[in-house]
Amino acid sequence: MTQDELKTLVGRAALDYVPAGSIVGVGTGSTVDKFIDALGEALKSDPQRVAGAVSSSVRSTQRLESLGVKVLPAETVTGLGVYIDGADEINHAGDMIKGGGAALTREKIVAELAERFICIADESKLVKVLGKFPLPVEVIPMAAAQVIRAFGPLGGVGKVREGVTTDNGNLIVDVTGLQITEPARFEADVNQWPGVVTVGVFARNKASVCLLGTADGVKTLQF
Ligand code: A5P
Repeated sequence: MTQDELKTLVGRAALDYVPAGSIVGVGTGSTVDKFIDALGEALKSDPQRVAGAVSSSVRSTQRLESLGVKVLPAETVTGLGVYIDGADEINHAGDMIKGGGAALTREKIVAELAERFICIADESKLVKVLGKFPLPVEVIPMAAAQVIRAFGPLGGVGKVREGVTTDNGNLIVDVTGLQITEPARFEADVNQWPGVVTVGVFARNKASVCLLGTADGVKTLQF
């Protein structure tokens, strides 16, 4: 199976985790696009399949609305059953690196609203130690250079992602060379640096379940 087919597989499988008539949290990325498409298909035969969605990006909002899903502002919702999103890397404990699509801040906000994070990913995303994928960090523009310097002692080399402004008007710094062996501690530390809006380690909001697309079908990892 191609990577695209694996994404379609897990995108469809995620629908089973969405309670009928609920409001679902929706992440961002090419794998989530497959989930949104599967949801759109389901709505054709069952218009009540979901009551609506809370979206983590302009991109997902547009796709959801084009398929007739009502998108509710996060600030009007007090809790969600599930949040469906992809990952750039996921380890065997359910900690993730996210933000390849620059939507990490809103993703974390919506994930925090949900009881369960259902991660959908193809098997290339499963790693022993987080850090091979360049870690995205959303920063206030005036802090970018100082945040890059602060990664130096940790062995990280940061670079501002060219031509990208986040949905929140900030910059993304991508950091290579890290080995994130203690994701929860790392996330808490970096989040405190002045000018850091969100670090792309999701340990506080780690996955509850990962639906992993493999050549043998969907493998379900529970954390
Ligand atoms: C978006 O900012 C990211 O966190 C995505 O969830 C992540 O990059 C996975 O994207 P793909 O599904 O496109 O691989």
